[in-house]
Amino acid sequence: MNDHPNLPPRFEPPRRALLGPGPSDVAPSVLTAMASPTIGHLDPAFLRLMDETRQMLRAVFGTDNAMTLPISGTGSAGMETCLVDLIEPGDRVLVGAHGVFGGRMAEVARRAGARVEAAESPWGEELDVDLVRRMAKAQPPKVIALVHAETSTGVLTPLGPFRAIADEVGALLVVDMVTSLGGLAVELDRNGVDAAYSGTQKCLSCPPGLAPISLSPRAVAALDARKTPVGSWYLDLSLIRGYWGSERAYHHTAPINMLYALHEALRLVLTEGITAREARHRALAEALWAGLEALGLELLVAPAARLPPLTTVKVPDGVDEAQVRRALLSDFGVEIGGGLGPLKGRVWRIGLMGHAARWENVALCLSALSSALRRQGHATPSDAIDAARQAQQMT
Ligand SMILES: Cc1ncc(COP(=O)(O)O)c(C=O)c1O
Repeated sequence: MNDHPNLPPRFEPPRRALLGPGPSDVAPSVLTAMASPTIGHLDPAFLRLMDETRQMLRAVFGTDNAMTLPISGTGSAGMETCLVDLIEPGDRVLVGAHGVFGGRMAEVARRAGARVEAAESPWGEELDVDLVRRMAKAQPPKVIALVHAETSTGVLTPLGPFRAIADEVGALLVVDMVTSLGGLAVELDRNGVDAAYSGTQKCLSCPPGLAPISLSPRAVAALDARKTPVGSWYLDLSLIRGYWGSERAYHHTAPINMLYALHEALRLVLTEGITAREARHRALAEALWAGLEALGLELLVAPAARLPPLTTVKVPDGVDEAQVRRALLSDFGVEIGGGLGPLKGRVWRIGLMGHAARWENVALCLSALSSALRRQGHATPSDAIDAARQAQQMT
């Protein structure tokens, strides 16, 4: 006899096309991998999976860094790991802040006891290289931290100029790659990145729950030279490496089935190839941009600074942006995102990430937006799908 007669029915998620800022659609084989039987976190078969996962992560990150592994937790856990492991109380940290996630990095660094300075640029624009250089030279920081792919604004920041500044002042370069890893060639070693973190739920097209990170030998040396213990026990890489390294020392119980999922997701990324994957994300983004402009919509970010996996579109005057998102979800099963912070109510955020970056999703999104806008009396001038198809063929 059931003691809880009012138990809810088994949860059946609705079918959606996840075209927001994340999570993105998960490839079927990743979901299948996740549903495989759970085994022990010290089972020899699992240890093999761990080694293969690290090897594939290095390839996707474009690095030979020995310290490359997935942290148990979402992207923010990756952010926190890189910052709390490298920062000691009183260290100076210079953060590039032109969106939500740069702001979050500054807050995490502050909580780790750093003296934080934020180099602020307007949201929707590139980080100001001259400002970062001036600030870094005035008070040389131990760490320069920035967001490669700002999901809150849709801006992609080139890393080269900031590596050069870090070299000029002898700083470590810490980069948020939550929305670039798996969608763009991030090339840690070529770009001289000292610590990078990501999340599984964006261009890697895995469910949320793991945060791949990678630390250069220089960053590992900084970790080893600490005078104070890392402020977080759970995110202390000097302990976590004991489990991921040859000792296999217990630290915490690995999220086994999430790691099955990541292993399969990385296999899919590398089967496609990073270059082909970047080209796919860019071609579909170009198609989306052309289609949106054909609908009479304006994009927030200038073409040269646009982030292919995440597009920010300005909400036209007189349109109820939340109503448009609700119509997309209820009539088409399409999820897109709204704006954050100062962009709240002013933009939509459309993601084309990983498995979701497909032509049919571009067409679906444009048709759905066109329908929702027309219903609010906003004329949509030309055939967006034709414009999108032409742009895609040109790339
Ligand atoms: C650029 C960026 N950094 C960090 C995060 C935080 O990741 P999570 O929400 O997985 O903790 C996100 C999440 O959207 C992000 O887009």
